Amino acid sequence: MVVDNKATVTYVQLIKEDLVIIRIVPNDGPVPDFEAGQFLTLGLPNPENAGKIVRRAYSIASHPENKEYIEFVIRWVRKPLPGRLTTQLFNVKEGDEILWLKPAGRALGISEELPNGEKDTRRIVCIGGGTGLAPFVSFAQHLHDTEDKREIVVLHGASYVDELSYKQLLTDLENESIDKGADKWNFKYRAAISRPQEWTNRAWHGHKGRIEQFLRTGNDGKSPLEELVGEKITKDNTIFYVCGWQGTIDGVMDYLKAKNFVSEKNKREDGSYEVKFESYG
Ligand SMILES: Cc1cc2nc3c(=O)[nH]c(=O)nc-3n(C[C@H](O)[C@H](O)[C@H](O)COP(=O)(O)OP(=O)(O)OC[C@H]3O[C@@H](n4cnc5c(N)ncnc54)[C@H](O)[C@@H]3O)c2cc1C
Ligand SMILES: NC(=O)c1ccc[n+]([C@@H]2O[C@H](COP(=O)([O-])OP(=O)(O)OC[C@H]3O[C@@H](n4cnc5c(N)ncnc54)[C@H](OP(=O)(O)O)[C@@H]3O)[C@@H](O)[C@H]2O)c1
Repeated sequence: MVVDNKATVTYVQLIKEDLVIIRIVPNDGPVPDFEAGQFLTLGLPNPENAGKIVRRAYSIASHPENKEYIEFVIRWVRKPLPGRLTTQLFNVKEGDEILWLKPAGRALGISEELPNGEKDTRRIVCIGGGTGLAPFVSFAQHLHDTEDKREIVVLHGASYVDELSYKQLLTDLENESIDKGADKWNFKYRAAISRPQEWTNRAWHGHKGRIEQFLRTGNDGKSPLEELVGEKITKDNTIFYVCGWQGTIDGVMDYLKAKNFVSEKNKREDGSYEVKFESYG
């Protein structure tokens, strides 16, 4: 039988009507250990079915070193019908009780070692679509706090500028990288807005289009990602982590397959791979 743990909601930040950042603190015991990239299952009693709990998985946006709270960024699913749990989550207030199951998920674990036992020093490129950014907010803070020396690039795709949920945090991490020098902390963040023609996006002058287009080779023979990092992206120098709609993952894979990248799910006989992903399901 599933045993739910209890937690208290300690922070609710409504970014817009259908996007929220929520923090929870376990009622009985510390914040559980987890790995950056994992998800946790949240639950609330089903108002339409007494005694039943509605449970759903949410990627953890906070990092394992943060023992103060667990953070999530959640979309209210409204179409075609209001989502069973998210509709309730958007009514939750600070101080309310919520249920949770322990962290889980291996799909987005950070690779630390190559199949030959050598340390994995490849550049890390994270591509998050919408709330699929969450695991990479955890990655970025974890890699920062553990003083990881790898080059890290976080790319976020959103339909609207007001959905760039962690713009400040990720910009601050990039500014710290510029101030300290890439030998100490090597971090870059870029966003792409996929509906640039919409009125609310009129002041956006950054990248336009879906986020996977960062990998598309331009007329000069380089992709925007290659322009950003200043060298050719190859399967020997870069590993990709992708979270978002299946279309985003497929789009990324189309560009990378042409460069002979393979995903962990289809890894080679020697155990090597260069892409890990988790799709919205
Ligand atoms: C590993 C993992 C991590 C995740 N991380 C996040 C995250 O960080 N943030 C986030 O926002 N989400 C995340 N999700 C998605 C989340 O788990 C839920 O799927 C999502 O919040 C919707 O839950 P819900 O109960 O509100 O919707 P549900 O009630 O489960 O509905 C799901 C969909 O089905 C439709 N639907 C429901 N009933 C019917 C019906 N009778 N007929 C037709 N259509 C119907 C709804 O309109 C909706 O589109 C993650 C999922 C996974 C698997
Ligand atoms: N790990 C997980 O499984 C996980 C994690 C987070 C969220 N989710 C769930 O995913 C759902 C939607 O997420 P969201 O609201 O965060 O995303 P979103 O804001 O709707 O979309 C994010 C970006 O992805 C693009 N996109 C949408 N559909 C696409 C497709 N088929 N192919 C390529 N790109 C596409 C959008 O472009 P356009 O502007 O062109 O639409 C936008 O730029 C929610 O139901 C959420 O619960 C699951």
